[in-house]
Amino acid sequence: MNGYVHGYTEKEASRLVDQATTLTELLHSDTAYPAGSLVLEAGCGVGAQTITLAAGSPQAEFISVDISQESLAQARQRVHAEGLRNVTFQRADMFNLPFAADHFDHVFVCFVLEHLSEPAEALIHVQRVLKPGGSITVIEGDHGSAYFHPDSIHASKAIQCLIDLQARGGGDSLIGRRLYPLLVQAGFRDVRVSPRMVYVDGSRPALMDGFTRKTFTAMVEGVGEQAIGEGLIDGASWAKGIRDLYRTAEPDGTFCYTFFKAVGYK
Ligand SMILES: C[S@@+](CC[C@H](N)C(=O)[O-])C[C@H]1O[C@@H](n2cnc3c(N)ncnc32)[C@H](O)[C@@H]1O
Repeated sequence: MNGYVHGYTEKEASRLVDQATTLTELLHSDTAYPAGSLVLEAGCGVGAQTITLAAGSPQAEFISVDISQESLAQARQRVHAEGLRNVTFQRADMFNLPFAADHFDHVFVCFVLEHLSEPAEALIHVQRVLKPGGSITVIEGDHGSAYFHPDSIHASKAIQCLIDLQARGGGDSLIGRRLYPLLVQAGFRDVRVSPRMVYVDGSRPALMDGFTRKTFTAMVEGVGEQAIGEGLIDGASWAKGIRDLYRTAEPDGTFCYTFFKAVGYK
């Protein structure tokens, strides 16, 4: 990963947790691992998804790895506070996993590939440690899928700044639409991708707050300094773009975003 665009701040950690809580049903309701299975969660971060995974499959064992020791410490705390005992955390690089070939029954990767300059290679590395017949589940967003009311050219420009900054760092925030070819090219079979659209309007105040404000807009807002500093946008246009994004979370606003969930087999 060439510089994680969202950083490792406390605010970002809490954004990741808000995101996971808001989207649990949409993204995870169809993920459950059988009793006794060993699951690798690659790039677990602060444990936002780990809690859902481990609670949803209480008789499976999880090994959750991340390259950031700091994130792992928060993840450990979070999982401990939830009273979950089926997760072991370990510092590891996805590109150099310290596990034998064919070690895991299943692999889970969420919101990680978008930050990597070589996502296809990362998939090949996790495939090595997966048993033949085992499954991989990958969940990613796609910032090109965001549209909203009231429409705003300034809001679109602010989102484009995040897309461009992530691309400059070697990542791809439009990766959701690429999951099928990426998994097939990495050698996974029976790959199925399902788009998961979040639709928010005034009748869903929890989503307005949890998703439109605290997940998506907070994520865009987080790169403001960098976007202005690197000359991608001027300060006034940026401020208007962020204001217009928050405006979509007023009772007469609406917001749409699509995540992509892929499942394939080795
Ligand atoms: C956006 S966070 C997602 C965390 C978590 N999966 C979630 O959905 O909340 C991306 C995570 O990938 C981790 N990461 C990036 N490159 C990695 C690598 N080569 N090996 C292991 N973890 C990596 C980062 O440290 C970060 O915690």
